[in-house]
Amino acid sequence: MMITRKVGFIGAGNMANALIQGMIQSGQFNTEQIRINNKNSMPRRRKMAAAYSIPYVGKRELLRWADVLILAVKPQDLFNVLEEIDPMINDRKLIISIAAGVDIKSIASILTTKCPIIRAMPNMSARVLTSATAVSMGKLVSSEEMDFARRIFFCVGSVHQVEESQMDAVTGLSGSGPAYVYTFLKAMVEGGEQAGLSHEDAGELALQTLKGAIEMLTVTGDDPAELTKQICSPNGTTLAGLGVLKANHFEENIVDAIQAATHRSAELRQENQQRQEAKKAV
Ligand SMILES: NC(=O)c1ccc[n+]([C@@H]2O[C@H](COP(=O)([O-])OP(=O)(O)OC[C@H]3O[C@@H](n4cnc5c(N)ncnc54)[C@H](OP(=O)(O)O)[C@@H]3O)[C@@H](O)[C@H]2O)c1
Repeated sequence: MMITRKVGFIGAGNMANALIQGMIQSGQFNTEQIRINNKNSMPRRRKMAAAYSIPYVGKRELLRWADVLILAVKPQDLFNVLEEIDPMINDRKLIISIAAGVDIKSIASILTTKCPIIRAMPNMSARVLTSATAVSMGKLVSSEEMDFARRIFFCVGSVHQVEESQMDAVTGLSGSGPAYVYTFLKAMVEGGEQAGLSHEDAGELALQTLKGAIEMLTVTGDDPAELTKQICSPNGTTLAGLGVLKANHFEENIVDAIQAATHRSAELRQENQQRQEAKKAV
C-alpha cells in the first residue's frame, strides 16, 4: 500500500541515500513524497536529483512541507540543525533521528515545541538494503507513527523495536557488528592463503562459506551450536580448528568486543550530552 506522508531528509549523505534508495525501490514511496536538505554539497544535491528526481529545498520550505523529518546528519552537527529548525517546528511533525549516540531526551531538550521523536539505529548494510535496524520511541509517539517509522526502515532491512536504554547495546552489536564480520572474513582469507590458496580463491571461498552459513541459519532456523555439531565428526578437521578457537577464547573475545563497543557508545552519548549542556550554559 502506498504511503501518503511527506518525508523531508535533513542530511543527504550515505545513510540518507541508502534510505531513499530503499524507500523508492520498495514501491511504497514515490519521489514526490521525499525532499532533501543538506548543508552545502552541490554534488550530493545533483546526485539526489539525477538518481531519484528528489529536489533539494531550503529548511524553511522543507519544514513547511514535510510531515516527517528524518535527521540524517552526523551526531556533532545534530544540535546545530535542531537549533536551526526549532523555530519552524510544530507539534504535528514526527521527528526521526538516526544520529548515533544522541538520545531522545537530548533532542527534545533543544526543541521548544514538544513533538513525537523516534530514534533509529540502522547499520552500514542499509546501503545494500540489508540493515539490522533498531528503533525506539519517545513518549509522545503514537502507534501509528511508530508503524510509519518501521515501514521506512523495513525498506532497508529488518526492524526491531527496543527500549531506548538498549540503544547502546544495539550500537555495540548490530551497529559495529559488520566490522567484526569483515575482520573475521579477512582472517579466514589470510588463513586460506597461509594454507596454500591464492588470495583470490581464498577470498571467494571464504565469502561464499559465510553466505552459505548465514543462509543455512536463515533457512533451517536451527541453533548455531546445533549446526556446528552437525559439521564436526569425531577427531575430524573442524574439531581441530574449533579447538584452536576455544583455546584462544574466540567466543569470549567476541562477547568482550560487543561489551567494549556498548560501553564506548554510552561514553560517546554522555560526551554528546555534556557538550550540549556546556553549550546551553554559555
Ligand atoms: N553510515 C553508517 O553506516 C551509519 C550507521 C548508523 C547510523 N548512522 C548515523 O547516520 C547519520 C548520518 O551518517 P552518514 O554516514 O550518512 O553521514 P554523511 O555521509 O557524512 O552525511 C551527513 C549529511 O549531513 C549534512 N549536514 C551537515 N550539517 C548540516 C546542516 N546544518 N544542515 C543540513 N544538512 C547538514 C551533510 O551535508 P553536505 O551534503 O552539504 O555535506 C551531509 O549530507 C550519522 O548521525 C550517523 O551516526 C550512520
